[in-house]
Amino acid sequence: MIPELSNPSVCMRDPQRVQEILQSMVKAGSNTLQVISDFDMTLTRFAYNGKRCPTCHNILDNSQLITDDCKEQLKELLNTYYPIEIDSTRSVEEKLPLMVEWWTKAHELLVQQKIKKDMLALAVRESEAMLREGYQLFFDHLYEHSIPLLIFSAGIGDILEEVIRQANVFHPNVKVFSNYMDFDETGLLKAFKGELIHIYNKREGALLNTGHFQELRTRPNVLLMGDSLGDLTMADGVQDMENILKIGYLNDKVAERKQSYLDSYDIVLVEDETLEVPNAVLLYLT
Ligand code: C5P
Ligand code: MG
Repeated sequence: MIPELSNPSVCMRDPQRVQEILQSMVKAGSNTLQVISDFDMTLTRFAYNGKRCPTCHNILDNSQLITDDCKEQLKELLNTYYPIEIDSTRSVEEKLPLMVEWWTKAHELLVQQKIKKDMLALAVRESEAMLREGYQLFFDHLYEHSIPLLIFSAGIGDILEEVIRQANVFHPNVKVFSNYMDFDETGLLKAFKGELIHIYNKREGALLNTGHFQELRTRPNVLLMGDSLGDLTMADGVQDMENILKIGYLNDKVAERKQSYLDSYDIVLVEDETLEVPNAVLLYLT
């Protein structure tokens, strides 16, 4: 039905079910659709020319806004906690407090750095962050069809917004839930605002934002995109959901994690650095 679903990167546990969901969604029409997507390693690339691409946090970690000493400490945190994040032998219950520990320690370090708000754009410009291939079509198509896009990220909202602004795709249909920086009156980072969003509490984050989902109650069909199993709860705030199609990027530790991704995402994209499949799905649905 959609030729791109035969791409070599595509794996599906139940292709028939995917077809059924797609058919129901086409029938309902694109004015009933909303897209909910993770940011880091879902809308942005995981690797380019064999080298890892940065997350929102890494953009700051690697920037000139951070002292060498702090860079060392942030790197140590990454080396300690990232392997835990992607460890398929540990349960979410076991990982959750450790993830909170990672985010909390990293944010404490960042706050000590007295980061200037007006330097963030430069840090992003000088970074190696890259949106996935096909991002222009993705963002522009959603905008042209007035389909709301919620970017739901455990990264840093200020950085994420800057990435999409610099790529000229921060259209008015885009809404962001993320961790936002709080600056003092002189423009220095003093804290992070609100409740922390980490990779395993997106459900709670969604439920804190009932107003947003209330506004979108005429759009009970959801295309969800993520790269972590924690991203599966991003749509938990959607009211009276009718259909949901879940697309998951499996970027790392492929062999160990493939089965769990197949069990929870409808379409799994294995080491696929492009938005080709989500774009094909969107074109089909609109
Ligand atoms: O859910 P989302 O993809 O937005 O999560 C952000 C990502 O940022 C996590 O997958 C994690 O690997 C990464 N991270 C990081 N540095 C931190 C905390 C999280 O790179 N201090
Ligand atoms: Mg992610």
